[in-house]
Amino acid sequence: MIFAANFKTNHTRASTKEYVDTLLTKKSLFQNERLYIFPPLSALQKCESDIKIGAQNAYMIQSGAFTGEVGLEQLDEFDINTLIIGHSERRELLGESQTMVAQKFQFFKEHNFEIIYCIGEPLEVRENGEDHVLEYLSTQLEGIDTNYDKIMIAYEPIWAIGTGKSATIAEITSIHNALRKLTQAPLLYGGSVNLENIREIIQIDNVNGVLVGSASLDAKKFLELISLSR
Ligand code: PGA
Repeated sequence: MIFAANFKTNHTRASTKEYVDTLLTKKSLFQNERLYIFPPLSALQKCESDIKIGAQNAYMIQSGAFTGEVGLEQLDEFDINTLIIGHSERRELLGESQTMVAQKFQFFKEHNFEIIYCIGEPLEVRENGEDHVLEYLSTQLEGIDTNYDKIMIAYEPIWAIGTGKSATIAEITSIHNALRKLTQAPLLYGGSVNLENIREIIQIDNVNGVLVGSASLDAKKFLELISLSR
């Protein structure tokens, strides 16, 4: 299974190091799992263990005049070759269009990155029924090579992110089954995954892992979440 921790704008360089050290004290817990952590850009660091550190965002450039962004050169310094693309917070709050998201995908695919590619519908689309959800998600896959061998697709309904209200088992099952028809890529679920619901979510067919925000911020709790999945 894949366990990915998305710190968003939480943790510092120092606390990220402590976090990784805490995880490494319980290595046996995740020796058969794939573990990723995505700290803020300022906390990127080399990690010579089985835990992969990735970036939450990067710009599709080697280096250049893109104020506030980091490119390949800055990621390379820390041997980062894993990236989240298309997270709803970047789409919604920072205005990343599907065109831009697809350009990022193409660029980092060309550089052989592992990519967690996020899709997910807003509440008003969900309220119109699942056909609308599937249609919406398909627009978020435009320009994305879902057969890229290093893509993982994270289904993260926007209304479930950070709200404490995850999608239901039936909703996740149904969307993941539909996605499975499109691709053999690992499929992650994200959106209020926590210690209470992890067992049920991880057992769903076609859920190959989880992308966790709030419930990943404390290393001990994240370890507990992993242990509950076994
Ligand atoms: P959450 O965030 O677990 O806090 O809902 C998930 C995400 O945005 O990746």
